[in-house]
Amino acid sequence: MSSPPFSAPSRQNMDPRKSSGNRTVVVVISVVTTLAVCFLFMLAVYYLYLRRKSERKQTFFRTRQEFQRSATQYILPAMHVPPLEAQVFTYKQLQFATGNFSSANILGHGGFGSVFKGLLPDGRVAAIKQLSKAGKHGDHGFRVEVDLLSRLHSPYLLDLIGYCADQDHRLLVYEYMPKGSLQEHLCSDGSSPMLDWGTRMRIALDAARGLEYLHELVNPPVIHRDFKTSNILLDENFNAKVSDFGLAKLGSDKINGLVSTRVLGTQGYVAPEYALTGQLTTKSDVYSFGVVLLELLTGQVPVDMERPSGQGVLVSWALPRLTDRDRVEELVDPALKGQYSMKELIQVAAIAKMCIQPEADYRPLMTDVVQSLVPLVKQRSTSQKMSSGSSRKLRN
Ligand SMILES: Nc1ncnc2c1ncn2[C@@H]1O[C@H](COP(=O)(O)OP(=O)(O)O)[C@@H](O)[C@H]1O
Ligand SMILES: [Mg+2]
Repeated sequence: MSSPPFSAPSRQNMDPRKSSGNRTVVVVISVVTTLAVCFLFMLAVYYLYLRRKSERKQTFFRTRQEFQRSATQYILPAMHVPPLEAQVFTYKQLQFATGNFSSANILGHGGFGSVFKGLLPDGRVAAIKQLSKAGKHGDHGFRVEVDLLSRLHSPYLLDLIGYCADQDHRLLVYEYMPKGSLQEHLCSDGSSPMLDWGTRMRIALDAARGLEYLHELVNPPVIHRDFKTSNILLDENFNAKVSDFGLAKLGSDKINGLVSTRVLGTQGYVAPEYALTGQLTTKSDVYSFGVVLLELLTGQVPVDMERPSGQGVLVSWALPRLTDRDRVEELVDPALKGQYSMKELIQVAAIAKMCIQPEADYRPLMTDVVQSLVPLVKQRSTSQKMSSGSSRKLRN
């Protein structure tokens, strides 16, 4: 006989009390398990939260430490002086760049030598200054000095790209400024259109900012020593940059025991105390800035003995007029007629007067000069915008 396909339930399994007890155990176990899983999950979430929190704290702390380290080691002593290396060129490279210093590439001549336009190996156009007193500066001294100058970077300073100190050759490679120097635009030989009042004020402000950077944002301060209109260079939009800062130092060697004339800067720009006693401070540059401001205002060079009697030295002629409301207009370049308000003229005259006063201590800081010029430039550009609808961008 074969067994039935299903065995009948045993009597034990059929006990109703036992079966409900089992169900309770199952329910309890599953509830406890669920609670345990939930608890573990919450524990894990809490653990992750704590970990992230401590990581955040650590990162912040690390950053602060790094910040403090970099602030004390790099930012404070070398403020605004990023360690950007100057490029070193061989003489051959610069010979090639300038077509063997061809006279066709001459941009101008100055107290240090000639300046050539050149095309650098990387395709950039540059102004290459060949120092004529070759071999005068020791190789190491020249490199150190030029390397230092190449670390000064501001939108208001001409960038020094690099230099060459091959054998006896001493050359400096600068960025090229297409509109040349301010001097060329102020002398009224009719070769270039006259600069208008607004442009002159913008140039004054840019140049003031260049000096402000050298005096107040670099530590130790750099005294320009040869600030003048030919050292204010203009880009295609007439934005101005100060050039040749700190260079007079390179030319300050003594010749036969006498300090070379280079130290004394350029006639007409030198502060009286520096000319008389050789005492050089940043206030000497402030004086030179005052002379440049006078040139912008009058369109006249600082010294010209061909001018009518009493007008040969610009500063002496201008001083009494700068503070006299009735005579101040005698100062203004006739080409600027109708382009300025009396209020603006008096403000510019007051700034120039402060800068050229004989007592160095009473001259303002370049920061003060910048602050005084800012409203003049802003006012002008706002009214220009209103009248012409143009939106010439202000560089601040
Ligand atoms: N970076 C430059 N870009 C364009 N022209 C320049 C540049 N540097 C100098 N020049 C021109 O060369 C001339 C001579 O310059 P420089 O040797 O510095 O003598 P200085 O400043 O006494 O005039 C300047 O007046 C200017 O016309
Ligand atoms: Mg120059």
